[in-house]
Amino acid sequence: MSELHIIDHPLITHKLSIMRNKKTGSKDFRELLGEIGMLMGYELTRDLPLEDVTIETPITKMKAKMISGKKLAVVPILRAGLGMVDGLLKLVPVAKVGHIGLYRDPDTHLPVEYYCKLPSDIEDRMVILVDPMLATGGSAIDAIKLLRQHGCRGTIRMMCLVAAPEGVEKFKEECPDVDIYTAALDERLNEHAYIVPGLGDAGDRIFGTK
Ligand code: PRP
Ligand code: URA
Repeated sequence: MSELHIIDHPLITHKLSIMRNKKTGSKDFRELLGEIGMLMGYELTRDLPLEDVTIETPITKMKAKMISGKKLAVVPILRAGLGMVDGLLKLVPVAKVGHIGLYRDPDTHLPVEYYCKLPSDIEDRMVILVDPMLATGGSAIDAIKLLRQHGCRGTIRMMCLVAAPEGVEKFKEECPDVDIYTAALDERLNEHAYIVPGLGDAGDRIFGTK
């Protein structure tokens, strides 16, 4: 069963509050999103398995712990997911990066696919799917379907910044094998399927469009 993890670290909550403020401009919004990406990545990777590796310190031989198991892929949903990639790559510089392009049709609110490029060995990687907004859940659910269609059979974790209860509910039904990690669970969706109180249109705020 899919679990919802709310990462409510004070640093993340504080930075998110600045991002929510409509007076915050694109430069600060982008920087804060990158910082939160790194802080959330720290929590998301907390349970990665370790293995013993024999190394030699300047003093003696020892069994040291190193990360073992499947390698990571970071997959942002374009455009807004791009804003969280660099923070994750600072933590795991050897991760590969895939891209899934989806936009929400303004009338139906349904996702429309326009791009998908994934690492060739995606089936052997654990995937962190990133998108700051989980509103109706449609984009995240479609992205997971695409990942599975392209052979991804390992663990997928969905990392977002703000989620709506409606989207979380739908996501849990459709993707029971994927956990969601979010910094905030907001109140609801409005009539345009925007998250309330939310932070507005994440892509537009990151890239200064609109
Ligand atoms: C936003 C956001 C998510 C999606 C969430 O993208 O970044 O991908 O909406 O909504 P959902 O949960 O209802 O599917 P948008 O379609 O605005 O595209 P953009 O990132 O290119 O601006
Ligand atoms: N996409 C956004 O960028 N913001 C929302 O509130 C909902 C969808």
